[in-house]
Amino acid sequence: MNTRGHISDRVAQIQKSAIHEMTRLSKQVDDAAFLSWAKPTSDTPEHIKQAAIKAIQDGKVGGYSENAGLLPLREEIVRKLKRDNNINANPAQIMLTVGAIEGLSAAIMAIVDPGDEVILPTPTYSTHIRQVVIASGKPVLVPTIEEDGFILDLEAIENAITPKTKAIIYCSPSNPTGTVFSEQQLRKLAEIALKHDLMVITDEAYEYFVFDDHKHFSIGSIPEMQHNAISCYTFTKTYAMTGWRLGYLHACEEMIPHITKAHIPFAICAPVVSQYAALGALQGSQDCVAEFRDHYLEARNLMCDRLDNMTSVFDYQRPGGSYLMFPRILLDEGKDSTAFCKKLLMEAKVSTTPGIAFGPTGQGHLRMSFCVPLDEVNKAFDRMEKYFG
Ligand SMILES: Cc1ncc(COP(=O)(O)O)c(C=O)c1O
Repeated sequence: MNTRGHISDRVAQIQKSAIHEMTRLSKQVDDAAFLSWAKPTSDTPEHIKQAAIKAIQDGKVGGYSENAGLLPLREEIVRKLKRDNNINANPAQIMLTVGAIEGLSAAIMAIVDPGDEVILPTPTYSTHIRQVVIASGKPVLVPTIEEDGFILDLEAIENAITPKTKAIIYCSPSNPTGTVFSEQQLRKLAEIALKHDLMVITDEAYEYFVFDDHKHFSIGSIPEMQHNAISCYTFTKTYAMTGWRLGYLHACEEMIPHITKAHIPFAICAPVVSQYAALGALQGSQDCVAEFRDHYLEARNLMCDRLDNMTSVFDYQRPGGSYLMFPRILLDEGKDSTAFCKKLLMEAKVSTTPGIAFGPTGQGHLRMSFCVPLDEVNKAFDRMEKYFG
């Protein structure tokens, strides 16, 4: 069907996602080694499924919940935020969302007016850029410092602030680089945000997957930031609950009703069956989180070891968190990351994601996921070693 003239400018300018394009192409390749998705390959732990099954059997999931989510779940989240994020919250400061994604979208919709500028340290998760565009805001991409491990360039961020700047959005641990922004850097970022009275919207989807001596720090735990931070979290990564579509955000009590006004037209409430599953996740044993983390650490170490054998093809920064890394392609043909990744898929049967999908500073790189079985990492690297000779 010809859609010309019917599609909003807001949506028309959004490019097709390179991640989904690589997934589509990978399906055409028999037995591709698949490092393209930032999606846990483990299944949701059994006790979480059982909590959902029980809620279904008890007839609890057929209606909507409160727009902000079930109160007992928000109370559990308050305990989790205190224990793991050092955030002192109350249930009125929590909103359950359809994954972290809908929380981020609702937060951005609540904050950004058409033409407002939003600073994003890049390379970054491309959905954040699209969320700003859908809100008719202007993404301002500020490169991170790759040679220091893709850390924040705080001076460049401050220099990018104009009278139109409304917010800063970052994810830590980062998709795609795996960088964990340090407490020290985030405290400085908070000072900049407060000096210019900007909102900071965080995506902390990978908060539990942090390695070595890195520590996850939530900027929302800084008391002075209570009116300037919206912190977004998810069950997707922590408990391998991708398809359940459940996340939540924390903001000050005055902000939540406004974010709720943006949340209702898109979702009304988060899926109720998933909210019961999440209650099971938070009230049950946390061993599964440690098991996932241990696996990702092992897979990261393996991927780094294998990359150490390919120093003429890739250079990389060792990721301190998430389950993603973002090697630089040293070969000339890597300058066009999309062409490089397509060729790698078609000729070596290894599926990765072109770096350009994560902003202009991502060009010349590719993203590799290590949330896969160790065999998959080995399969991909055996093929690449052979392919690049
Ligand atoms: C940084 C980041 N945020 C959010 C998401 C999606 O989270 P959710 O499933 O909670 O919407 C992803 C998924 O890959 C991600 O990498």
